[in-house]
Amino acid sequence: MSGIFIHCRAGFEKECVAEIQQHAASLGIAGYCKAKPDSAYVLFESYEPGAADELCRRVRFDQLIFVRQWFVLLGLVRDLPVGDRVAAMMSTLAGLPGPVDDVYLETPDTNAGKQLSKLCRSLKTPLLRALTDVARYGSDVSGRRLHVCLLSGSAAYIGYAPTHNSAAQPMGIVRLRFPGGAPSRSTLKLDEALLILLDVGERERYLRPGMQAVDLGAAPGGWTWQLVQRHFHVTAVDNGAMDDKLLASGLVHHLRADGFRFQPSQAVDWMVCDMVEQPARIADLACRWIEQGWCRHTIFNLKLPMNKRYAEVQRCLHLISGRMQQRGFGFRLACKQLYHDREEVTAYLARLDAEY
Ligand SMILES: C[S@@+](CC[C@H](N)C(=O)[O-])C[C@H]1O[C@@H](n2cnc3c(N)ncnc32)[C@H](O)[C@@H]1O
Repeated sequence: MSGIFIHCRAGFEKECVAEIQQHAASLGIAGYCKAKPDSAYVLFESYEPGAADELCRRVRFDQLIFVRQWFVLLGLVRDLPVGDRVAAMMSTLAGLPGPVDDVYLETPDTNAGKQLSKLCRSLKTPLLRALTDVARYGSDVSGRRLHVCLLSGSAAYIGYAPTHNSAAQPMGIVRLRFPGGAPSRSTLKLDEALLILLDVGERERYLRPGMQAVDLGAAPGGWTWQLVQRHFHVTAVDNGAMDDKLLASGLVHHLRADGFRFQPSQAVDWMVCDMVEQPARIADLACRWIEQGWCRHTIFNLKLPMNKRYAEVQRCLHLISGRMQQRGFGFRLACKQLYHDREEVTAYLARLDAEY
C-alpha cells in the first residue's frame, strides 16, 4: 500500500480528490481517495508499491490548483506518549528512503489544528536531534523534506516530500502580514498571487517601476494598492469609491465605468481583475485582453459559488488554453487556490511570444 497526504482548504476536499484522481489516472496509476468534509486534508491510496512516490515526482506541483501541500506517506502513528512523542515516531521514520534536509511540523488547516501549533513548534528540535542521531538529517542536497502532520496530541501522519516539487511553506500556507495602509484585505490575494504564480525571474522582469496597469473591479483599492507599492501607474475601473489616500498617491486614475466594456487607449503591461462575476465571463474577458494586445500579463480571480467547482475551473482553463492555441500564441497559464482565496481561485495568463 502506498499513499499521499494532501493539504487543502477546508471545504475543498472534493475538488482536491477530483484533481489528484485526474492526475493519477493520466499517469495510469490506480488509486482511491479518502476525505472527510471540512477536514482540510485528503488521503490518496494505491495498492501499487511506489505509486505515491511516483505521483509526487511526476505531477508538477505548480500545476495543481486545489492541492496546497502534499507528502508521500510513511504511516499514521497513533498513541504518541505525551512524554516522548519523537521516540514513538522513530520506527516509522526508519522507512525514509534517505536523509532529509528539512522538517515541517504541520496540522490540517482547521480550528482544531490551530490548537496544535504550539506543540508543533516544541517538537521540531527533538525531532531534528533524533534524525541526526540516526544519520537521517543534515544533507542539504537530499532534495527531500520530512513532514509530520499532527491530527491531535497523540496521532500524526508522517511522510516525505520532494523539496522542489511541493509547496515551499509548511502546509502550503503563505503567511503574509496585512499591510497597514492597504484599503482592503483582498490586497493579500494579489500579493500572494504575485509570489506564487510568478517565479523570481518573472517577478523581476514583469514587475518594474513605471509599468502601466488596469485594475478592473478595483474598489476600494486593495489590488491597486499592491501595484502602487510597486510604483505602477494604475487605471482603477469601478463604479464604487476608491480609497482617498490611494488616489492621492498620484499614480492612480479612477474611472467609474463597466469593467467588461472598458478598453484602454494604449496597451498596458498588466490587467488585474477581481470582479464578482461568472467565472466563464471573467475567463473570456482575460482572453480578450490578451488577444487584443491590450495587456501582456493578467491576474484574475474566478469566483466559485457553484457546486461543481472543479469542473468549472477546468472548463475555464480549457477555454483559455483553447483560445490562446487557436491564435497560435505562446502563453503561460497558471492557476491556484491561494491561501488568501476563499470560494475562489486565482489565475495568471501571459503572452510569451518573443516578438510581442
Ligand atoms: C471583490 S471587490 C474588489 C476588491 C478589490 N480587488 C480590492 O482589493 O479592494 C469587487 C469589485 O468589483 C466591482 N465590480 C463588479 N462588477 C463590475 C463591473 N462590471 N465593472 C466594474 N466594476 C465591477 C464592484 O463594484 C466591487 O467594487
